[in-house]
Amino acid sequence: MAEYEMILTEVQGAAGVIRLNRPQAMNALCDQLMDELGQALHAFDADPAIAAIVLTGNDKAFAAGADIREMQPRSWPGTYLNDFIAPWEAVLGVRKPVIAAVAGFALGGGCEVAMMCDILLAADNARFGQPEIKLGIVPGAGGSQRLTRAIGKSKAMEMVLTGRMMDAAEAERTGLVARVVPLAELLPEAVALAQKIGELSPPAVAMAKEAVNAAFELPLREGLRLERRLFLSLFGTEDQKEGMAAFNEKRKPSFRRG
Ligand code: CAA
Repeated sequence: MAEYEMILTEVQGAAGVIRLNRPQAMNALCDQLMDELGQALHAFDADPAIAAIVLTGNDKAFAAGADIREMQPRSWPGTYLNDFIAPWEAVLGVRKPVIAAVAGFALGGGCEVAMMCDILLAADNARFGQPEIKLGIVPGAGGSQRLTRAIGKSKAMEMVLTGRMMDAAEAERTGLVARVVPLAELLPEAVALAQKIGELSPPAVAMAKEAVNAAFELPLREGLRLERRLFLSLFGTEDQKEGMAAFNEKRKPSFRRG
């Protein structure tokens, strides 16, 4: 496995766990950390033993945003010519499900990276926010778009315009996160979710992710056409035969063949 300085990786069953590990800087997302994250995501995505990836931080911070020390001297048009956010899109290129397990602060780029993931689980101490406005900038890694789609215009506007943070209960109520769990149970719950996905058919899982993500990008008609094509194509897999035979024979299916 590759050597990393700013993240830790481990395998727990079918889960590839990536922990952001710059505790002294609240896991601020500097260029090196994001580069390592992209490499680790790619490696787990390519590993057939991994069904889903869990991305987490520490108890105090998932990530407190892009690294403000690194950003302060940056100026335009250098920022435009050398877009330092572009490599972050590695998160979006992962085909396996990515579960963000968020404890503590998920601010600015930290909230944005969490929202790039497929499922957000929050610990009861999680706090979400887009405080860029307080630095004289605006969200730059999807915050204005993904937060608005997740929680609606009025709340997103309030958060983006004031930098107000949202606690875990509000994040669950507004649909930003799937579930809130006690802090001590966050990682086990996220890994259990990954294991559950690991019992399912890999092509069905990949296509389910593709179909739901299409809802954010395509007009309804195109999204429905894509969903139908994916649905029908799965009848070409052995896993479809196995899944339906197992249901009819009242037994547990045995997938992972495609
Ligand atoms: N970048 C660089 N360093 C950061 C950081 C960041 N985003 N967030 C925290 N740190 C550092 C602090 O500078 C501090 O370092 P020192 O000990 O060397 O002084 C250390 O982490 C601990 O932080 P605090 O002392 O501030 O801890 P706290 O508990 O008092 O506050 C906090 C925690 C509320 C998260 C606070 O640190 C904070 O507000 N951080 C900045 C949040 C922010 O503005 N994020 C948006 C960044 S812009 C962005 O992300 C752009 C984008 O859309 C891509």
